Amino acid sequence: MKHLTKLLISGAVATSVAGTVYAEGPFEEQIKARQGFYEVVKFNMETLGDMVKGKRDYDPVVAEAAAKNIYSLSTLNNALLWPKGSDSSAADTHAKPEIWSNFDDVKQKHRAWNQAAEKLATNAGKGMGQMKASFGPVGKSCKSCHNDYKTK
Ligand code: HEC
Repeated sequence: MKHLTKLLISGAVATSVAGTVYAEGPFEEQIKARQGFYEVVKFNMETLGDMVKGKRDYDPVVAEAAAKNIYSLSTLNNALLWPKGSDSSAADTHAKPEIWSNFDDVKQKHRAWNQAAEKLATNAGKGMGQMKASFGPVGKSCKSCHNDYKTK
């Protein structure tokens, strides 16, 4: 858990939550909260995705706000949402058990999201072309983690 704690506070957040007492199963609250977290991430990604696909007009103010939200979300300390054992082998969740055994790789993938999102936050308000160019890598960073650590 200490490892995952560090994972989830990677990036701009440097807080330490070592010593925190983690809840025991069945983990419903943690699972609900982390899925809700990703739904908020997705909403902001879809806002930009709709602009990229031409489903909604590019608006630099909206684009920058959504991109900054995505970046901010990537810096949150969500360590309390990922207690050991709250995986798809034991609970109603899409989180694969491998998350807890492949810590270094998950950390890398989280960081890749955080770094791509930082670029997107910088570029999203600078025009459709720049937004689009920075949006792709963020989408790839989501998929890269889901492919290995999220069940269908
Ligand atoms: C480091 C790994 C990782 C990264 C990066 C990541 N995700 Fe996820 N995501 C997960 C895991 C694990 C779950 C399953 C959570 C669960 O079911 O408890 C998930 C679940 C989701 C869900 C489903 C939530 C629900 O209602 O059940 C959505 C939507 C989602 N992610 C969107 C995104 C988007 C969009 C990005 C990129 C901007 C992203 N994720 C980046 C690991 C990641």
